[in-house]
This record gives sequence, C-alpha cells and structure tokens, in this order.
Amino acid sequence: MGKTKNVKNLEAYYTRRANEYEGIYSKPERQEDLRPLKSIIGSIFRDHRVLEIACGTGYWTRYIAESATSIVATDVSKELLDLAISKKYHSCSITFQQTDAYSMEKVGDNFNAGFCGFWWSHIPLTRRTQFLEIFHSKLNPGALVVMIDNNYVEGSSTPVSRKDEEGNTYQVRKLKDGTRYEVLKNFPEESNLHNFFEKVGENIQINNLTYYWLLKYNLKKSP
Ligand SMILES: C[S@@+](CC[C@H](N)C(=O)[O-])C[C@H]1O[C@@H](n2cnc3c(N)ncnc32)[C@H](O)[C@@H]1O
Repeated sequence: MGKTKNVKNLEAYYTRRANEYEGIYSKPERQEDLRPLKSIIGSIFRDHRVLEIACGTGYWTRYIAESATSIVATDVSKELLDLAISKKYHSCSITFQQTDAYSMEKVGDNFNAGFCGFWWSHIPLTRRTQFLEIFHSKLNPGALVVMIDNNYVEGSSTPVSRKDEEGNTYQVRKLKDGTRYEVLKNFPEESNLHNFFEKVGENIQINNLTYYWLLKYNLKKSP
C-alpha cells in the first residue's frame, strides 16, 4: 500500500486531482440534491458583481454566469484555473485571478456578492475568522454571500479518519493513480453555521439538503 501524503498544502492535493475533480459531481445518489443547487446558483446572483473564492475548475462559475453581471473567479492553483479558463460560459464578464484566499492580493473590493463553493469545509477552524475578515473586506456592506458545501453522509462521503486537537476532521482520499492524501475536511452542524455567521451576517438562511448545505446571508452594514 502506498504512503499517505499529509496535505498541509491543500493546493498540492487539488492540483494533482485537477483532471479527475469533476467526477465528484457525477455520483448518482447526489443528483437529486445537485439539481436545486444548480438552479439556485444559476439565478441568485442576478445583476450582481460576484467574487468567487476557490473556483477550482469553474464548475459553479458556469452557473453563476447564468445571471451575474460580472465575476472575478479566484483560486490558488494555476492548473485548476487553466481548466476553468478553458470552459465556455454564458455571456457575463469573467476574470480569473490566481490568488490565495487568505491574502487575496490584487483582488479589487467593489463586489456586491461573494460565493464560496466547497471551500468553507477546508478552512482550519482557527483560520475561519482570518478568512472571513479578508473575504468580507472585498465586499460592499449588505453584500449577498452564498456558500455551498458538503454534509457528511455515511456510505457516500469518504470516511473521517481522525480529528485533531483543534477539532478539525480529516479524510484520507485516494486519486486514480493510487496516491493517497490526508485532507482537512470539516462538516459543520447547521446550528454551528448559524451561530458563527450571525456575528457577521443578517437575513441568514440555511438550506440543508441530504448531501449538501447552502448558506445565504447579507453582510452586516456595520460590524
Ligand atoms: C473542493 S475544491 C472547490 C472547487 C470549486 N469551488 C467547486 O466547488 O467545484 C477546493 C479548491 O480550493 C482551492 N484552494 C486550495 N487552497 C487554496 C487557497 N489557499 N486559496 C485559494 N484556493 C485554494 C483548490 O485549488 C481547489 O480548487
């Protein structure tokens, strides 16, 4: 059996997974949940200028583009961004930018919406506040924020392999070439999401499906 690489660096894991990444969206049991998510993401950003964090292959960028005015889609990995850039999009002004979500250097700050797809679960618990401060600093007061991410479902999700002293959970994931990576992946409860985001957002709505959750809020006008 091959050695498991400990991925302190999430970028390395996703870069290596780039060409097989979208297979995750083909799981048959998840299609019934993905349909309403695609429909919501395809219409919720009408007339918005959207900042997308960790856009990966642009899977959700395509749906955002169906209604948004413009998108700045960011990711730390050049390989993932190259795949995103190669896709065809609905007519919408899209700029791709390679940047780290924890610094967002050179990203502008006049967005009235933000989107994170399957990113929140990868943030170490101790870095959540740091990430949100930077993310929110790019958004206008009152901006619409939408996040989607995974629920843990026995039999469909990769099992949780361990929990660290800070409370983060991990999975050991295997790529097609047999390489195994340990990846930080947290599965917050709905109440935990609510408690966390009520400090920074208003009009909080959580749509809890079987395989996924969708969180929506407006950034508070004054912190
Ligand atoms: C689970 S994928 C999500 C991709 C896409 N949003 C989606 O939902 O299909 C996580 C993404 O985070 C990116 N990533 C990892 N570390 C990052 C960082 N520090 N800053 C920005 N993006 C990062 C990876 O390159 C990968 O594209």
